[in-house]
Amino acid sequence: MLFSVSESVKTIKPYEAGKPLSEVEREYGITNAVKLASNENPFGCSPKVGQAVLASLSGMNRYPEPVPFTLCQKLAEKYHVRMDNLVIGNGSDDIIALLAHGFLDPGQEAVMPLPSFLMYEISVKTAKGVPVMVPLKDFTTNLDGLVKAVTPKTKLVFVTNPFNPTGAAITRDEFLWFADQLPDNVLIVVDEAYIEFSRHDSVYQSLDEPLTDPRIVTLRTFSKAYGLAGFRIGYGVMDKSVAEILNRIRQPFNVNTLAQVAAQAALEDTDFLEKTIAGTHRGIDFLTLKLAEQGFEVLPTQANFLMVDVKTNSRDICEKLLRKGVVVRSLASYGYDNFLRINAGTDLENQKCMDALISVSGK
Ligand SMILES: Cc1ncc(COP(=O)(O)O)c(C=O)c1O
Repeated sequence: MLFSVSESVKTIKPYEAGKPLSEVEREYGITNAVKLASNENPFGCSPKVGQAVLASLSGMNRYPEPVPFTLCQKLAEKYHVRMDNLVIGNGSDDIIALLAHGFLDPGQEAVMPLPSFLMYEISVKTAKGVPVMVPLKDFTTNLDGLVKAVTPKTKLVFVTNPFNPTGAAITRDEFLWFADQLPDNVLIVVDEAYIEFSRHDSVYQSLDEPLTDPRIVTLRTFSKAYGLAGFRIGYGVMDKSVAEILNRIRQPFNVNTLAQVAAQAALEDTDFLEKTIAGTHRGIDFLTLKLAEQGFEVLPTQANFLMVDVKTNSRDICEKLLRKGVVVRSLASYGYDNFLRINAGTDLENQKCMDALISVSGK
């Protein structure tokens, strides 16, 4: 092409998002398709969100609050931090990009597991940094490998807990060991997009700890357990010196008013959150049991999705499932040719997914 594209950007593979339901239904001429491919909340969101959003519509001629005051106040209270420890983003994707842009100079490194949530690599490369990828060990984060990959050029280390796409979690003891091995000048980004679904007490939850280590940046999202993926809102909790940098470089109005209001209402509705978590665990247990009964190998998960070995090409299986109106994720692009990632849906959706899978896999 005529314009010279940045060398770093040239190496970026586009993010492969799960197909929206409307697209699948149009393409395959089907109705009532079920989407279990993007780890979304199948139960919708709190009814309080709708009310709050409707009530705020009359103010849409005004710019949003640059810092969502009430939301920050509630988050600060919930996690026993100060408001200046918080950064609110247009999804946690936004904060991942801000971290890369705020802390990487060209050629500096960000260490991350391989495979990882693709936005780490995309953001690092967009910021002209170098992603250093450390393969998983037995489907879990290779913490020792991440430590060994750190060089004087490393500025960021990403971990995801629980891990996407395997669902494996890092325990508190493992994390404390890991953090102890890393130098003082490296930010440790702990992406806890799915932490609300974790079931074991041993799983590390960074926000249960006092915010004493300035290297630790926790990322959380309203897209999953709170069911607000379409609003786009997530947040980071971090040392105020780090938050100050991110707040300096973000767009002044990065989070729209409706998302701010929705998140505030969602945070208050603990009842909906509890129901989501219970429904998700029920779904995971059902899918785990039914998949195992069919002879598929399911990895243990602490998230709202599971990874399953279907023992044949998962792209083919996905395509066949699509024709039956079930959208799940093939992990072939992650290098796991025979694996699917399926998130827990409603009871009906889970049943439909299993019925379709049994019929397309000739079981
Ligand atoms: C590990 C991980 N981090 C972050 C995100 C992004 O979340 P958000 O919708 O808040 O941008 C996702 C979304 O799927 C994810 O899987």
